[in-house]
Amino acid sequence: MQNDIQEILISEEEIQQRIKELGAVLSAEYVGRTPLVICVLKGAFIFMADLVKVITVPVEMDFMAVSSYGASTKSSGVVKIIKDLDVPVEGRDVLIVEDIIDSGLTLSYLIELLRNRNAASISVVTLFDKPAGRTVDLEADYTGFVLPDEFVVGYGLDYAELYRNLPYIGVLKPEIYSK
Ligand code: PRP
Ligand code: MN
Ligand code: MG
Repeated sequence: MQNDIQEILISEEEIQQRIKELGAVLSAEYVGRTPLVICVLKGAFIFMADLVKVITVPVEMDFMAVSSYGASTKSSGVVKIIKDLDVPVEGRDVLIVEDIIDSGLTLSYLIELLRNRNAASISVVTLFDKPAGRTVDLEADYTGFVLPDEFVVGYGLDYAELYRNLPYIGVLKPEIYSK
């Protein structure tokens, strides 16, 4: 698996350091409140797990699974709900946790959905942002790293469901996805 990686863009240490910083910022932001932290499966599961450990306010957590990419490096543009939330969001301070924002389609769909369910507030934290991919006008409230316009994997991000378990962000060798 490591052999399929051409270059490490962001190391495990850099990722963990940045998550600590984000945790401190979010802990200050939500002091006195108990946000409902929503993990967007599957990609965000590793970030979610590391992030909530460095947030010091009480949090509730829920999980939602959506998918728009399938086994492709391009978004299909159609967001599918694979698993919905278990708890109501009405009146809650919602913090959406994403691994990456690319086109912005997944997030704009989710934000619209949670707005219609009458969340009290909706904020977004994403570990990675790829602004070059944007097709809808949308920014996260909190961003870990801005990435170049390359297809990257690791730390939750997959190609055809593989590579999510790499602890760093790497660029795949082009021959892997041109096969
Ligand atoms: C990826 C990623 C984000 C989304 C970002 O999810 O985890 O959720 O795409 O892309 P966008 O801004 O263009 O919508 P994917 O649909 O691949 O599902 P996964 O999390 O299960 O891998
Ligand atoms: Mn995802
Ligand atoms: Mg994916």
